[in-house]
Amino acid sequence: MARILTGVQSTGTPHLGNILGAVIPAIELSKSSKNESFFFIADMHSLTQIKNGEILRKNTINTAAVWLACGIDTNKSVFYKQSDIPEVTELAWYLNCYFPYQRLTLAHSFKDKSKNLKDINSGLFTYPLLMAADILLYDADIVPVGKDQLQHIEITRDLAMKFNKHNGETFVIPSSMTNNQTEYIPGTDGEKMSKSKNNIIDIFLDEKSLRKQIMKIKTDSIPIEKPKNHKTCTVFKLFSLISKSSEIEEMKKNYINGGLGYGDAKQLLFEKVLKFFKAHREKYNYLQNNPNLVISELEKGSIKAKETAKTTIKKVRNKIGF
Ligand code: ADP
Ligand code: TRP
Repeated sequence: MARILTGVQSTGTPHLGNILGAVIPAIELSKSSKNESFFFIADMHSLTQIKNGEILRKNTINTAAVWLACGIDTNKSVFYKQSDIPEVTELAWYLNCYFPYQRLTLAHSFKDKSKNLKDINSGLFTYPLLMAADILLYDADIVPVGKDQLQHIEITRDLAMKFNKHNGETFVIPSSMTNNQTEYIPGTDGEKMSKSKNNIIDIFLDEKSLRKQIMKIKTDSIPIEKPKNHKTCTVFKLFSLISKSSEIEEMKKNYINGGLGYGDAKQLLFEKVLKFFKAHREKYNYLQNNPNLVISELEKGSIKAKETAKTTIKKVRNKIGF
């Protein structure tokens, strides 16, 4: 039995990149009877960027609604909100005291964020240690993440080993898990889709706005009748992630032979998104109108998460000498 754990920040509504790259693969893993899963909304991490309580609450509900709409089984997986389990900040403090300041100054994510954000607070700097606490508190074996998070998992492993060496066997040493096929979902500008880049596709928008986002996808200007390169085209890449192989082959043929304009390819992608995510969109809209259902799912999960958290914290306090 392996314990899978991952978190998603509630810095906005998850986009197509988050959903195909993180949420759906994690839910697929959780379906195996060999796995036990912990999935959470990292709202404390979001606080490094969002200081408006109303927005933070709304984003948390939206993010949780996306997980529920994508089919997480909350009877099998523990699905909770990070801030409901304050033990995580206690553990983060202990880990702070075990990690060299100098090493934290080398973290890529802090360097990137401090270049792009105005509010460069200390929480952004110690972010990886709260993330390590998220993982170690729940004895996770496997942490599915995107490539950008690998350094954080390395930090977590080092911390766990260091603590264990010093205090005796305490933490499980986690491993990261990445997925080559879906780790880099391109956005409308062809760069990695990201909430911070104004290039997202939000599959939960109303049809008109969703179509508008898809029509915005950047392509070259090869005319309709001329052959086109499917390998470099974002529209084709996105289409192939959610289509059957026969449909992908058909589109590929039309690119290579010419005759399919980018406008038509985008229309096909739009229709495919609507079809592929039909049930997800319906469930998401339903949950938007019934936020109490989302809140009660998170509360149910927090009760289960709390049990594990308490056991770990008790063990850690003991080892430290408190
Ligand atoms: P964003 O970059 O949009 O702020 P997050 O940092 O909140 O996204 O990422 C949440 C999860 O989604 C992470 O596991 C991350 O690796 C994954 N993810 C984010 N963007 C993409 C993308 N374009 N393609 C694949 N996975 C992604
Ligand atoms: N830092 C992760 C991200 O930006 C979110 C996160 C917080 C996380 N705590 C975690 C992911 C623990 C995996 C495990 O995507």
